[in-house]
Amino acid sequence: MIRLHCFKIFTVLFALCVLGPITHCCASENERKIYIVYMGNLGEDEQSTSTYHSNMLQEVVDSRFEGESLIRSYSRSFNGFAAYLTHEEQEKLASKDEVVSVFPSVTFYPQTTRSWDFMGLQENAQRNPTVESDTIVGVIDTGIWPESRSFNDKGFSPPPKKWRGVCKGGQNFTCNNKLIGARYYKSSMPSGNESARDQEGHGSHTASTAAGNVVKDASFYGIAKGTAKGGVPSARIAAYKVCYPNIGCDSADVLAAFDDAIADGVDIITISVGNPEPLVLENDAIAIGAFHASQKGILVVQSAGNSGPALVASTVPWIFTVAASTTDRGIITKVVLGNGTTIMGKAINAFNLKGKSSRLAYGKETSSLCEEQLAKSCAKGCLEKRRVKGEVVVCSQYQGMEEALRAGAVGSVVLSTELADVSFVVPFPASGLTIPQFRDLQGYFDSTKNHTVDILKSELVKNLNAPSVASFSSRGPNFFFPSILKPDVTAPGVEILAAYSPMSSPSENPQDKRSTKYSIISGTSMACPHVTGAAAYVKSFHPNWSPSAIKSALMTTAWRMNATKDPKAEFSYGTGHIDPIKAADPGLVYESFPDDYIRFLCNSGYTSSTLSRIFGIGIQCPENKTSNDFNYPAMTFPLVGGRNKSATFSARFHRRVTNVGSGNSTYKAITSSSLDYNITVVPRILKFIALNQKQSFGVTISGKMSSKTNLISASLEWSDGVHSVRSPIVVYRDGL
Ligand SMILES: *[C@@H]1O[C@H](CO)[C@@H](O)[C@H](O)[C@H]1NC(C)=O
Ligand SMILES: *[C@@H]1O[C@H](CO)[C@@H](O)[C@H](O)[C@H]1NC(C)=O
Ligand SMILES: *[C@@H]1O[C@H](CO)[C@@H](O)[C@H](O)[C@H]1NC(C)=O
Ligand SMILES: *[C@@H]1O[C@H](CO)[C@@H](O)[C@H](O)[C@H]1NC(C)=O
Ligand SMILES: *[C@@H]1O[C@H](CO)[C@@H](O)[C@H](O)[C@H]1NC(C)=O
Ligand SMILES: *[C@@H]1O[C@H](CO)[C@@H](O)[C@H](O)[C@H]1NC(C)=O
Ligand SMILES: *[C@@H]1O[C@H](CO)[C@@H](O)[C@H](O)[C@H]1NC(C)=O
Ligand SMILES: *[C@@H]1O[C@H](CO)[C@@H](O)[C@H](O)[C@H]1NC(C)=O
Ligand SMILES: *[C@@H]1O[C@H](CO)[C@@H](O)[C@H](O)[C@H]1NC(C)=O
Repeated sequence: MIRLHCFKIFTVLFALCVLGPITHCCASENERKIYIVYMGNLGEDEQSTSTYHSNMLQEVVDSRFEGESLIRSYSRSFNGFAAYLTHEEQEKLASKDEVVSVFPSVTFYPQTTRSWDFMGLQENAQRNPTVESDTIVGVIDTGIWPESRSFNDKGFSPPPKKWRGVCKGGQNFTCNNKLIGARYYKSSMPSGNESARDQEGHGSHTASTAAGNVVKDASFYGIAKGTAKGGVPSARIAAYKVCYPNIGCDSADVLAAFDDAIADGVDIITISVGNPEPLVLENDAIAIGAFHASQKGILVVQSAGNSGPALVASTVPWIFTVAASTTDRGIITKVVLGNGTTIMGKAINAFNLKGKSSRLAYGKETSSLCEEQLAKSCAKGCLEKRRVKGEVVVCSQYQGMEEALRAGAVGSVVLSTELADVSFVVPFPASGLTIPQFRDLQGYFDSTKNHTVDILKSELVKNLNAPSVASFSSRGPNFFFPSILKPDVTAPGVEILAAYSPMSSPSENPQDKRSTKYSIISGTSMACPHVTGAAAYVKSFHPNWSPSAIKSALMTTAWRMNATKDPKAEFSYGTGHIDPIKAADPGLVYESFPDDYIRFLCNSGYTSSTLSRIFGIGIQCPENKTSNDFNYPAMTFPLVGGRNKSATFSARFHRRVTNVGSGNSTYKAITSSSLDYNITVVPRILKFIALNQKQSFGVTISGKMSSKTNLISASLEWSDGVHSVRSPIVVYRDGL
């Protein structure tokens, strides 16, 4: 999620705004921190109850703290617990035989409808309603607003038989046949009456985007009016609340949510939550939780992160990682200057200055307290009420808007640099301008003493450049696993209308007292549930497909993006923009299973003993290490070598595809061509005589990377005339 309030936006702009470490309530326990004591897979007949965990704790924890140390037990899908421990206590636990690893709990953050139509999944699309209605989408997020129309259960039958979850949403929280389950977790701040109710809007937004009902006449105060709907409107939702306002999402809670969701019987998990930077596997609760999910055939979809242009934090091959891009619908807010010129600014402005122009105020005249540059930027505390009251204040930075509102201005026009490609909900009439637009405004301001503007209510515009990846979307390459392309795909994540929490201010400004059931927000958080909905849609036609087959189907059928428009190419958008309908019939899929993930990790330098610890199962890595042979639907080769030097390369990949199209089919390899490289595929023709038959092939790309390039985008496409199964081949300079 990205919004304007410091807490909401910090994963994008205000990386420095991160809150301090969370400590336990009492000063005397300051040195106790939350650790996750992870004990790996559940044994066959293991008594992994919380009593067992308490007993283990008793052996190491000072008896004074015993009662309050254990926070939670994981015992449904894997074994372990979270507890407040001192450094010494955690070391004692780590040395026990049955303990796989002990790692500090870290804080993750949530990352913030036309979109489905844009990618071709229209309301009248062909569906498989029976299976879709048996599909359960697990949403790990900020909770959910159960009374939203998006989660109404009119027309829904009772939950599917396989459902083993509960509705433990807390006080005043009721589930129904659409929202069939709810749980909440709160390790770090035990207190009164928490519930699974969404206080922030983020969780309701993501849940409704993945699987919300078809809701007619939804809009944000009339803006973007239309039908709001999820990818699989007939599916059921189970909400797992792990994130809290001003706190974030504790990884101990995230792991607990995975433990429950897997055991509850969800079919797919969507998690628009992450760390701002990549975490090593040992400490990444989401990667570990998702591995256990993959063992149970559950696909986990995660947002890439809002740290763009910094690196994507979701790195493992068993997670489906999603970048955020625009749709063909943009939202603008016009600023009409007194001389008649109109500037198309970016903002989601539901207010109207009623056609009455207001005087502009800028710089010196707004403040006698601050020097001119600070006054121009509308720095906190600078603007004086008597000087700006009734005027539209110009600010040379985006956050100046909040100061203008505080000081009693009627509106604000601000310079928007970092996020010029996104419109945010503003708390009063306001619009964000690009640098050239802002220069024009300044020119007008200086050109006449009688300078006035009108800020209009937002309008929709056709975005001809769509889809393009948003600036905030985290980019590849993959910090830990350079041969695995990340992000995997892109999906709509800019200016998305979906359900919201009426408890949360839509602009996240305390002065903005509006309450809304639908709101428009942006972030890789919003892109992630689009892929979840699309994956559930594919699964409704192929209930027995493995998570990797569904992921492959969405990756290889994605819209081809234009690499010349995005210098980071596949590292911005993965294989491309998802196409749910094509993905339901991909022809061939690249599959991988938990054993393959283990082998891949062995090849990536993990030892048998480390992996045995992380996954809690005896693992023996094969002696011969190979590289690039993980059966991923994309091929990525990091070229080690200095920048600004031309370098020759030759990379080989082995892949295996499974025929899921028609029994008898013949696929031909089509490769991209360029003066910079040659691609050979052996064999170039794959003949299948049966469904589910597998065929292997090898790909070699060789050529020369010129001194001016850091990345080569090539591709291999298998075509039988009906299906086109495309994988990018990316060669890049390591360190890009
Ligand atoms: C329960 O929550 C709903 C929605 O916020 C609210 O309207 C209602 O008053 C609450 N009921 C109680 C008893 O708190
Ligand atoms: C409990 O809920 C009420 C009503 O929603 C709220 O005003 C109060 O602050 C909550 N108390 C705690 C301890 O969270
Ligand atoms: C100032 O400009 C506004 C809008 O362009 C116009 O309506 C008004 O008459 C002008 N006032 C003066 C004193 O020029
Ligand atoms: C209004 O003022 C701006 C800035 O001085 C200028 O670029 C623009 O051409 C003017 N528009 C008209 C219609 O005079
Ligand atoms: C890709 O973008 C470039 C630059 O905008 C444009 O010239 C080219 O025609 C585009 N290619 C395709 C296939 O759309
Ligand atoms: C390992 O590689 C060597 C040399 O390439 C080969 O002779 C041997 O059979 C391989 N061992 C296994 C277990 O694949
Ligand atoms: C590489 O080239 C860029 C511009 O092309 C230059 O800014 C940079 O300093 C060069 N780096 C090295 C290591 O030569
Ligand atoms: C595929 O073709 C072969 C020979 O042409 C035929 O015997 C077989 O029945 C066909 N299989 C299917 C599934 O159509
Ligand atoms: C591609 O192959 C052709 C024919 O073998 C060769 O002449 C050419 O140099 C190769 N190109 C590159 C970039 O290696």
